[in-house]
Amino acid sequence: MATVSPGMRPPGPCGPPPSLRDPAVERDPHPLYRTLREHFPLVHDAPFGAWLVSRYADVRAALEDPRLVAPPPGHTPAHQADGMHRSLVAAAFRGPASAALSAGVERTAYVLARRLADRREADLVAEFCHWLPAAAAVAALGLPYEDTARVHTWCRTGLDHLGGHHPELDAFLRPYIARRRAHPGTDLLSVLCAARVGGRPLPEEAVAGLAGTLLGAGGDTTARALASFLANLLDHPGQLAAVRARPELTAGAWAESLRRDPPLHVVLRRATEPVGVVPAGATVACLLGSAGRDPARFADPDRYDAFRTDPGPLAYGSGPHSCPGTLLARLTAEHGLKALLAAVPDLRWAPGARPAAEGLISRSPRTLPVRCR
Ligand code: HEM
Repeated sequence: MATVSPGMRPPGPCGPPPSLRDPAVERDPHPLYRTLREHFPLVHDAPFGAWLVSRYADVRAALEDPRLVAPPPGHTPAHQADGMHRSLVAAAFRGPASAALSAGVERTAYVLARRLADRREADLVAEFCHWLPAAAAVAALGLPYEDTARVHTWCRTGLDHLGGHHPELDAFLRPYIARRRAHPGTDLLSVLCAARVGGRPLPEEAVAGLAGTLLGAGGDTTARALASFLANLLDHPGQLAAVRARPELTAGAWAESLRRDPPLHVVLRRATEPVGVVPAGATVACLLGSAGRDPARFADPDRYDAFRTDPGPLAYGSGPHSCPGTLLARLTAEHGLKALLAAVPDLRWAPGARPAAEGLISRSPRTLPVRCR
């Protein structure tokens, strides 16, 4: 991590360093990120209450530094999990579980996309991105489709920070867990019920927490990332046509969108001991949104280029807390785009539309008005 102290700044503009709290930053954070990377690579942002790290190499080093730990759940913009929960989430994506997930995502993407096929105009955020991640998890878990809306509401109101538990969701899941234990099927809930850790089946609470993580923790993040992905492709019809003609390009196009426009712009850490000029107990804000646009790491970083060969994986974090949901997120993007392009081959922006991204910590367009026919 950079060891420049506030008293020893490299040559740059005079006056106090800029702050993430500046109202203009929420509209467009990239001018601030540029200034930070060039002149204040490590700086204390008093109004925001954290040390800001903005260069790619420094953000990565900070996320991997064992002296910088994730704050307790609920105090971080990203979703958090303890080690046990984390390894279970990772396990949920292997073997038969990943097949159930993939089938759930594919089916759901198809159903949602078909609904748009006969429409003249639609908002892809409200009618597609917002629903796909949660509805896909509902399908993969083998829960009734008609319960998607209430499951979605619980997840959005109660599970933002920690995958896991919501009293109403737990109560809803309990009878399904009991049934799958007695009569296992091929769905993901049956797979989780049959999973063994240390030779023992997972307790009901752990199964419910895992299902909650799948339904909620990554849902909002994936929905935002999907919105930015579609916006980038709609902005570049030539690249959209290339991805349509060669679906094997989709994974790279998705990774490139995550680099340029990650859904989580800020991930927080707390210093357990002094780290360079950062005192023990201080909060460090790792600016993922800035790291992805660092010209020292990426050529022409502001440009969206679906053919870029190395967009890097930093949007998913790095080190001990990096995201265990990358596969599910990628499946959602791949199946989502494929289904949309099949149902709406002429997909394009509605006339005059190009909504800007919004948000400081989580960032994505709030609407995507498109023409379907
Ligand atoms: C494009 C979609 C996604 C992005 C960009 C993303 C990004 C991230 C990032 C940056 C972190 C690290 C937070 C930190 O270091 O404090 C993280 C952690 C996590 N993500 Fe995701 N995520 C996505 C989708 C998902 C999905 C679909 C799941 C569902 C299972 C998920 C579950 C988790 C969990 C449980 C953690 C906590 C890991 C830990 O603390 O050890 N994420 N994610």
